[in-house]
This record gives sequence, structure tokens and C-alpha cells, in this order.
Amino acid sequence: MLSLGIEGTAHTIGVGIVDSQCNILSNVLKMYHPEKGGIHPREAANHHAENLISMLKEATEKAGVNYENLDLISFSQGPGLGPCLRTGATAARALALTLNIPIIGVNHCVAHLEIGRKTQHCVNPVLLYVSGGNTQIIAFSNGKYRVFGETLDIGIGNMLDKFGRGLKLGFPAGAKIEELAEGGKKLLDLPYSVKGMDVSFSGMLTAASNLYSKGETREDLCHSIQETAFAMLTEVTERAMAHTDIEEVLLGGGVASNKRLCTMLKTMALARGAKFAVPPQKLCIDNGAMIAWMGIIMYESGVRMNIKDTVIRQRFRTDEVEVQWR
Ligand code: ATP
Ligand code: FE2
Repeated sequence: MLSLGIEGTAHTIGVGIVDSQCNILSNVLKMYHPEKGGIHPREAANHHAENLISMLKEATEKAGVNYENLDLISFSQGPGLGPCLRTGATAARALALTLNIPIIGVNHCVAHLEIGRKTQHCVNPVLLYVSGGNTQIIAFSNGKYRVFGETLDIGIGNMLDKFGRGLKLGFPAGAKIEELAEGGKKLLDLPYSVKGMDVSFSGMLTAASNLYSKGETREDLCHSIQETAFAMLTEVTERAMAHTDIEEVLLGGGVASNKRLCTMLKTMALARGAKFAVPPQKLCIDNGAMIAWMGIIMYESGVRMNIKDTVIRQRFRTDEVEVQWR
């Protein structure tokens, strides 16, 4: 079975083609970079609409397939920004109806978990999903993927990007912050906000920005943000593993590219005798291949959708998905 997946929840528009063994035949993506400030949903959606047609062509050519070879169209149904989701969903419906093949709308967060589970050979991991908009600790329990902890305000990537904007690091800032952090020596006191299993980052953002205006160096600030924020994430991930008796930890989302975060989680996992896994960067960031794969899993487990079921779901929660494939 060949599935074409369309991702378009936020900044990234992606098209991927995947087969039933999870061979990734193509996975093309383009990221919208706002000229200044944060993401503007309508502008991002325009970016996606302008690029989608040529990306569909590129993805099929790279995969060496024709549209007639496709068996399934999958798309990100949510959560995400309305105008962006609508662009991807409209294209997916048009393709499925024209080709007369099934369509499946998938939950973006669950897709991050399932592509990691398949490609990293994890059986039952705790997923730490860290991206711009999302920060969640997810694990399977009683037929559903449950959110064991999450951010109470902004996503960690969003915090890094906002802090980076103040330092004029450009967008996205995560990788530059990682680079600067390597030169940091001093661990500055920043709010360590863990509330039960949840975390919050806006206090850290304000405190770090204030320290910057008081003259602390960029290097020390980036180092301190990373050490504090990643320690918070490692703590709640470890607690989720302890509560669920799970011995695998999987990382996903754009912030998973960060080596320091990987090292901290790996150290924690190894100390518990657990496995640590992180997919290659192209599968951690938002991408079409994970959506295509998620569609295959759902289709093969018996899920079928009519066009009327493909309405986008901006606030689609991870634990709303009936996981009938496990
Ligand atoms: P989502 O819609 O799932 O929230 P997204 O639009 O934020 O996703 P991703 O590609 O998953 O897209 O993640 C992008 C985020 O990852 C940005 O906030 C960026 O700063 C961050 N990031 C990228 N590389 C690094 C890095 N090396 N260290 C820390 N953060 C990073
Ligand atoms: Fe994502």
C-alpha cells in the first residue's frame, strides 16, 4: 500500500510518500519564515498553498510513482492553526476525490510517536514531544495515548524562539541558542517550573530576557536556559516512566535536534536501565512521511473516513484518538 501524507499544522508544509513497510520513498518539506515577529496563520497558509502543488510533483517524482499508484491520502487533521490545517485538508480532499481513493485525517502528535516507534524499533515508549508549539509527555495506557504532562503555557521551542528574537538570532532560534550555549560558563538562576507532571516556560522567558537587559552574556543565558528547561523536561519524563513502568524513552519534535537535551535524556534513561531513542532529524521535525505512515497504520487497523469526517480539528487532543492498532 502506498500512502501520500500532507503535513501542514503550522510553519511547515510537507509531503511524504510511504509504503506499508514504512519505507520512506520521499519526504519533501518547506518552512514558512515570517519576515518579522511570530507566525501569522494566514500568511503561513498562503505559503503552504503557494508551495503545495510543486511539492506534490516533487514528492511523486522523487518517489518514482504516479498519482495512479497511490492507495491512500493522509493529512494532518489537527491540532494546529486553522488556516494552515485547512490548506492541507483541502488539498488532501481534492486528491482523494480525484483519484477516487480513501482519505484519512490523522492526529499530528500521535504521528510523531508512531513514526518514532516504527523507525527506532520501540515497542512501548514514553514520548517526549518537544516542538515550537507543543511540549507533551505521552504514553500508551488503556487503549489511548495519554498526555502525562505538558506545558501549561508556551511550547519549549516557542520559548527558545521568543528569547532568540530578543537577541536578534533570527527564526527559528533553537539551533543558534544551542551553539551559543556551548560557550556558556555561568549557570544563572532561572525559574524551574515543574507543577506535578506539567511544566511552564513563560516565567523563564521573562526572567532570561530581564537578565539579558541587565548585561548577562548571551552565552551564559543560552546555557542556563538549556540546563534549566531540559532538566525540567527530563524530570517529568523520568517520572512518567516510573509511574507507567515503561523502559523506553523516545524523543520527537524539532527541539529533539538539540544534543544537550539528547544527552540529558540518555543519561537518565541509561541510569534506569532503559532505552533511549531519537529518530533522524527529518522525521523529528514536522514532515509528511510521518503523516503518510500514520494513515497506513490507521487504515490497516480498519479506520475509514468519509469526506464529511475530514473537517479539521484545531484542538485535536492526543487522548481523543481511539488507538485500535495496539
Ligand atoms: P509543531 O507544529 O509540532 O509545534 P513546529 O512548527 O514548531 O511544530 P518543528 O520543526 O517540530 O516545528 O520544531 C521547530 C522548533 O524546533 C523551533 O522552535 C526551533 O527553534 C526548534 N529547534 C530546532 N533545532 C533546535 C535545536 N538544535 N535546539 C533547540 N531547539 C531547536
Ligand atoms: Fe510537530
